[in-house]
Amino acid sequence: MKVLFSVSAENLKLSNQELEALFEIYDLDSKKQSKHKITIINSKKATKAKIKKLSNRSSMLKFSGKLISETSPKNLEKEFQKINWAFIKCPFCLRIKTENPKLKEKIPALERTLSSIIWKSLKKPSVDLENPITQITIIINKKAYITEKIWEFKTGRFKDRDPKQKPAFHPTSLKPKLSRLLVNLSRSKKSLLDPFCGAGSILIEASLLNIKTKGYDIDNRMIQKAFINLIHYKCKNFLLKKLDATKLHKELKSESVEAIATDPPYGQSAYVGAKDISTLYKEFLTSASKVLKKGSYIALIHPHKLKKNKFLTKSLKEISSHSLYVHGGLTRKILVLKKK
Ligand SMILES: C[S@@+](CC[C@H](N)C(=O)[O-])C[C@H]1O[C@@H](n2cnc3c(N)ncnc32)[C@H](O)[C@@H]1O
Repeated sequence: MKVLFSVSAENLKLSNQELEALFEIYDLDSKKQSKHKITIINSKKATKAKIKKLSNRSSMLKFSGKLISETSPKNLEKEFQKINWAFIKCPFCLRIKTENPKLKEKIPALERTLSSIIWKSLKKPSVDLENPITQITIIINKKAYITEKIWEFKTGRFKDRDPKQKPAFHPTSLKPKLSRLLVNLSRSKKSLLDPFCGAGSILIEASLLNIKTKGYDIDNRMIQKAFINLIHYKCKNFLLKKLDATKLHKELKSESVEAIATDPPYGQSAYVGAKDISTLYKEFLTSASKVLKKGSYIALIHPHKLKKNKFLTKSLKEISSHSLYVHGGLTRKILVLKKK
């Protein structure tokens, strides 16, 4: 099946990296072509149910659909006449998406023309604009992509888990969308460790995907906050413990961890003790690389100013690094590492 994905333009590189990670998680050994916001895969392993699951799991995806055909915008009507629309389950609806301002005003008329081509080809046609069974979505930029919609982003899908909505608030808490992104970049399937878990934002996003989680923090008060928050969001299968993230190898068996997603402290804090921040990162990654399975990933945030050569260890390979505005007016870096 050919599938079209459209990602958010706000951080294109990161959005595409997340898609890449999701293809790995869902084992989509695909032939892929990417252009700006659009990625098309052709995979025998792709099913509508799998693509829906993948899309629900994503943080930055905007749309996914089964690709029916692609053509030039001028040729749309002719292409519509050629397509066999018998697969449509009624009621159906048709939507056009474009960012081309010249085209935007012509959309209602074009939607009517194209819908009527489908209508005439069906035996018992019916339309429902609010609750269709089949939605044909056409994405027009330089090309026109004709798709059967599988999933579409809904505004506010992370809103109920915003830091201020959580019963145990902490100002360092990550937004749920970014937490979900880290979970995905860590390629976690069954289990995940966050060794600097704070009030638990990453653990919550992983738990909601039915991933078994472990969260450690050196500060007992943060562990209590994480507990209150995880219970509030009805998370199951989690373990929280007061622990120093530089001593993971003393707590966990070697090569027993499937994935790490984490957000360590950004600056000197009482809990880092006398250590400077680069020593904390270095000791954490040295310990993490001992407990991580070969071929597994760590997704972490680090301060922009902290140079990677100060903390990277030989057993970890860099997969990607991106700048991202997080909060507090500062830009952070998202780093993805793989155990060699
Ligand atoms: C930036 S906060 C994490 C916030 C978390 N991602 C959230 O969204 O709630 C960093 C956390 O690391 C903890 N921490 C600092 N040093 C640590 C260490 N050596 N081991 C484990 N946790 C540590 C702090 O107590 C703090 O809760």
